[in-house]
Amino acid sequence: TSYNVGYIIGSLAKDSINRKLAKALVKLAPEKLKMHEIGFSGLPLYSYDYDAAYPAVATDFKAAIKGSDAILIVTPEYNRSIPGGLKNAIDWASRPYGTNAFANKPTAVIGTSPGAIGTAVSQQSLRSVLSFLQAPQMNAPEAYIQFKPGLVDDDGNVSASDTEQFLRDYMEAFHQFMARVLTVLPRDA
Ligand code: FNR
Repeated sequence: TSYNVGYIIGSLAKDSINRKLAKALVKLAPEKLKMHEIGFSGLPLYSYDYDAAYPAVATDFKAAIKGSDAILIVTPEYNRSIPGGLKNAIDWASRPYGTNAFANKPTAVIGTSPGAIGTAVSQQSLRSVLSFLQAPQMNAPEAYIQFKPGLVDDDGNVSASDTEQFLRDYMEAFHQFMARVLTVLPRDA
């Protein structure tokens, strides 16, 4: 079985180190994971005033999540929490009430930072949000990647072989996790 996996990069920065990490993860993913990016840069700031008539950019964003078998979130840590743009995107995906796109969706979180704790606090915050949204999460392995200059290049090549192997193992674990979850929870149509 192949799996259609959407990945969301929590940073909007042109030179995002999390984008580099995501490229590495795409390269190192098992062949059966068909990876595609789900962007959120076009979303306005959410308010429930939009619930009566979601803009196309938001219905498309939700449809991309719903249409994926699993979602990988690759995110930086901003001020010890989830970047605002990513939180906004998740809020869009969660509404209108009763149409939460993350419900029953297998997820995994990972991130990188120049700091020694490698986005650990941001990931914990994101895990709380995904819990509330009823998204099954891969609990382990966790992945807190400290980004040293040159660790991953713009094409997603990883310079440290131990990190490369760790990331490969992480994606294999995510593959097994989604396979397990999808045996008990139906895929979205
Ligand atoms: C940061 N940075 C940061 N790093 C960290 O480890 N913990 C933190 O709480 C923060 N806070 C923070 C706030 C804001 C507003 C910015 C812009 C940056 C540093 C951050 O890890 C660094 O800029 C990374 O390059 C961000 O990842 P992307 O956006 O390059 O993928």
